[in-house]
Amino acid sequence: MDPATEKHYVSADNARTFVHSVLTGNGVSPENATIVADCLVRADLRGVDTHGINRIPSYMERIRQGVLDAKANPVLNQITPVVAQVDGQNGFGFVAAHLGMKRAIEMAREFGIGFVSVKHSNHFGMSAWVVQQALDAGMMSLVFTNSSPALPVWGGREKLMGVSPLACGAPAGKEKPFILDMAPSIAARGKIYKAARRGEKIPSDWALDGEGRPTDDPHKALEGVMLPMGGPKGSALAVMMDVFSGVLSGSAFAGHVTNPYDPSKPADVGHFLVAIKPDLFMGLEEFKERMDYLYQRVVGSEKMAGVDRIYFPGEIEQITHEERLKTGIPYVQAEIDALNREAEKVGAERIVIDRK
Ligand SMILES: NC(=O)c1ccc[n+]([C@@H]2O[C@H](COP(=O)([O-])OP(=O)(O)OC[C@H]3O[C@@H](n4cnc5c(N)ncnc54)[C@H](O)[C@@H]3O)[C@@H](O)[C@H]2O)c1
Repeated sequence: MDPATEKHYVSADNARTFVHSVLTGNGVSPENATIVADCLVRADLRGVDTHGINRIPSYMERIRQGVLDAKANPVLNQITPVVAQVDGQNGFGFVAAHLGMKRAIEMAREFGIGFVSVKHSNHFGMSAWVVQQALDAGMMSLVFTNSSPALPVWGGREKLMGVSPLACGAPAGKEKPFILDMAPSIAARGKIYKAARRGEKIPSDWALDGEGRPTDDPHKALEGVMLPMGGPKGSALAVMMDVFSGVLSGSAFAGHVTNPYDPSKPADVGHFLVAIKPDLFMGLEEFKERMDYLYQRVVGSEKMAGVDRIYFPGEIEQITHEERLKTGIPYVQAEIDALNREAEKVGAERIVIDRK
């Protein structure tokens, strides 16, 4: 086994405890550290390793550089009975979005729908955790965010739009819920950072290098641009995320959000969060039965050649979540070392490896 790619398994509990202590060591309150640690570990559990605890070093660098306020608490402002605004106060995006979705759920319980716009926030990682927060309360949701420039608009060659994920969800009855969480690029940029971290190559249709040529080298891809999925349609979805998350909220937009790996200035990310009560037009049981029927029709659909199984959106990640709860989360040595360096900086305990 190559020591560079050998996997070290860490239980979700140990991962959360580790992240919590590094965060509190950097001045984050215990309550906010619990939210951030839970969201990051959820990403790793779902197999979205690009947006999990490996992001800790870059987030902590932002705190050390004074461009992310570890001590900030988001402020909520009620605009109408069904609309609220959160000012993230340049604290963690996870904390601002968590408060926003909490309020959206409360409004939806009372009025059927709740919409929260979030400004002056930061990167909130994997959007699916916000969708799951709504699902845990029995709600449908829309979760949009904008992000730093990585993608050209259709016909362009400069980075302008973010690879900003579009996410939504709906609860089911006995079947798996619907969770769509997708970046409008062929692949999320986090997948390129992960390949660079792990010394791996990337498929050559993901990105162009600085000279505008296809590349399988993640380092060269980071100097160039990501390619939108579906050509002009992917680029239009990225513009849509900027309209709803950036223009509307009062946060940065049109290419002015700062990259989470750039510790030179605040990110000023915006989010758009909606919670919807599913039993507005029929009873809850009927809604859930209809979702179950949809699930069965989708996964039971006739398969194309070479396909063993059809999955519902979000299902592969949920299966990974269940597996990793049992096996632990796999990390490579370079990732463990980078995390332990963060612990050393604040005198926190090293991450506990459960097995190799
Ligand atoms: N916060 C940010 O700024 C930011 C930016 C980019 C990406 N991200 C996150 O990166 C993550 C990865 O994004 P992505 O676009 O690479 O995701 P992806 O391509 O892995 O998956 C996109 C969607 O397709 C579904 N899917 C994938 N394979 C499937 C299959 N075989 N059958 C049925 N459904 C399937 C997934 O369940 C998911 O809902 C997301 O969690 C996203 O929120 C965050």
